[in-house]
Amino acid sequence: MEFATLLFEKKENYVIVTLNRPEKLNALNFQLFTELNEAIRQIELDRDIKAVILTGAGEKAFAAGADIMELHESDDITGVHFSQYGSKVMLRLESLRKPVVAAVNGFALGGGCELAMSCHIRFASENAKFGQPEVNLGIIPGYGATQKLPRLVGRAKALELILSGNMIDAYEAERIGLVNKVFPHSELMSKTVEFVQNMLSKGTLAVFSALDCVLSAEHLPYIEGLEYESRMFGKLCGTYDFKEGTKAFLEKRKPNFKGE
Ligand code: COA
Repeated sequence: MEFATLLFEKKENYVIVTLNRPEKLNALNFQLFTELNEAIRQIELDRDIKAVILTGAGEKAFAAGADIMELHESDDITGVHFSQYGSKVMLRLESLRKPVVAAVNGFALGGGCELAMSCHIRFASENAKFGQPEVNLGIIPGYGATQKLPRLVGRAKALELILSGNMIDAYEAERIGLVNKVFPHSELMSKTVEFVQNMLSKGTLAVFSALDCVLSAEHLPYIEGLEYESRMFGKLCGTYDFKEGTKAFLEKRKPNFKGE
């Protein structure tokens, strides 16, 4: 599939989506959001795609935030739409029932940090930097950081980052739980691919269902979330993969999952 601001590389059972405006540090403009929305639609529809890796082109950035050139044109009316559009695309990514793994290869600032937070898992290279620098521009985060960051790292750390506009490095991001793991820059992609391939070697129905339960828990009261999990557990007990997985264990061999 051809996009102007994204690379969309389909592999055997996953896709690598690369934000591709390296000369602007992959700043998120309207066209990029529109294309990302279309890419997500394709991922939803394509049964061969079972996981997504999201990364940035070039050596310096995952994404350095919303495109400030476009943002500068906003006023008190259009600013709402500016925020809502990006937020909607990110929510769609976050709501995908296929695992989305961010490979954060450099700056993840403002909207870039919010986009990384919209992924289900985040790996970062040693040179990655995270932050919500919007207060430096006289605004607040507009693509969900005030909601996403406290959920990930707790309110105090989230407020520290959002109110100061300060950047943190990859290891600090890992320490506070914003990033799952840090790798040397040269190994980021291979380690991310390795993680995805290992995940997809399991029963994929189970992987999708576990993701669904965790994401659904955000919107369900605790008791209903437990009930939802039990129903999903029961459903999986009726699958080929469950019979095969348990049989393989008992026969002391590797399972041959079919995703059915
Ligand atoms: N929107 C639009 N363009 C951006 C951008 C953004 N968010 N971030 C970087 N760019 C552009 C720069 O304008 C520059 O373009 P030019 O070469 O045409 O002048 C190019 O990307 C390279 O950026 P530059 O600032 O020269 O790189 P640097 O290494 O000196 O600094 C940053 C890197 C990330 C510290 C700096 O670019 C920056 O602070 N960016 C804005 C971050 C931000 O505030 N994001 C939140 C937006 S709401």
